[in-house]
Amino acid sequence: MRKLEDGTLEQGSAVRHAIVTGGSGFIGTHLVKRLKSEGASVTVVDRNQPRIGGVDCFVQGAIEDPSTWERLAREIPDAADTLVHLAARTSVLESIKDPVDVFNSNLVGFHNALEFCRLNGIGRVVLASTNAVVGASQAEMITELSPLAPLTPYGASKAADEMLGSAYTECYGVRVAAVRLTNVYGPNMWRKDSIVPRIFRYAQGMGDFTVYGDGQQFRDFVNVQDVVAAFLTLAEGQFAGPVSFGSGESVSVNELVRLVSEVVGKELRPGSVPAKAGEMPGVRISLDRARGVGLKADVDLANGLRQAWTDFLANGAAR
Ligand SMILES: NC(=O)c1ccc[n+]([C@@H]2O[C@H](COP(=O)([O-])OP(=O)(O)OC[C@H]3O[C@@H](n4cnc5c(N)ncnc54)[C@H](O)[C@@H]3O)[C@@H](O)[C@H]2O)c1
Repeated sequence: MRKLEDGTLEQGSAVRHAIVTGGSGFIGTHLVKRLKSEGASVTVVDRNQPRIGGVDCFVQGAIEDPSTWERLAREIPDAADTLVHLAARTSVLESIKDPVDVFNSNLVGFHNALEFCRLNGIGRVVLASTNAVVGASQAEMITELSPLAPLTPYGASKAADEMLGSAYTECYGVRVAAVRLTNVYGPNMWRKDSIVPRIFRYAQGMGDFTVYGDGQQFRDFVNVQDVVAAFLTLAEGQFAGPVSFGSGESVSVNELVRLVSEVVGKELRPGSVPAKAGEMPGVRISLDRARGVGLKADVDLANGLRQAWTDFLANGAAR
């Protein structure tokens, strides 16, 4: 990527070498595969080993630890043009139990990443944020103009990351696009504790699943392939700031259970427990800004669940 006269980097070119923090996780594994298939070099920074081969450089360590970034500076084979930031403590409910660790990982860790970009001339960053930065009510459609009012330390840490991103965009020309993701699902997520793999494990008799409250709370589920495509579009475009991204179609938890029942071929009848603190009552997002910057969600929920279930049976159910 070319350096412009004002010292910032030219935008709009294809990703040539990306640093992917959290590249060993669920979304990260899909992203690394996609970047490699597009011919880009990939450097992963993660506490855990990558799950797939082909990564050009791997630095193992915690992102909140400055020595991880010092090692990265020494070991990275050539200059990167893009950083996609996925590493984070991701459990919303766990974040209520352990806020200190969440702020270290999610806030100090992201600040270290931004500093690395500033000091090493990396001009574009895509941050995996979340719609949980907005503590919306059932009635509201979430847009990027909705007030930031997170209900949990997890949501607060991502809102704070977005603020850091804004400052680094304005002051240092490190262009930060923050994608506020809804619930991401897809193949290779059977290790996770989120709702889709929990229902899959329940369907397979491998774990318990209970609905919080009456199951009428609605959520937006977006396929990981659409998310990975959105990251690439944002990395290669010009956009800075927050953008909500999901399928744009919300379903209730009860409806999700019904859809999974169809996919797995048996009627699931989970019990229920009282709703938990920190759970958003409803998530319905506007995709207007996302569409305006070229993002689109193509995968239909029923088809995506079928594909994820096939993968779960092949890879997850045996563990
Ligand atoms: N999956 C979703 O539904 C969803 C929704 C909204 C936002 N997001 C965001 O997308 C990103 C990726 O999510 P995911 O589902 O792939 O999560 P994941 O838990 O599968 O992957 C996270 C990866 O980050 C690594 N990591 C975590 N903390 C670290 C630290 N302090 N130092 C170094 N490595 C660390 C983990 O080892 C893991 O490999 C996260 O930032 C998450 O907040 C995910």
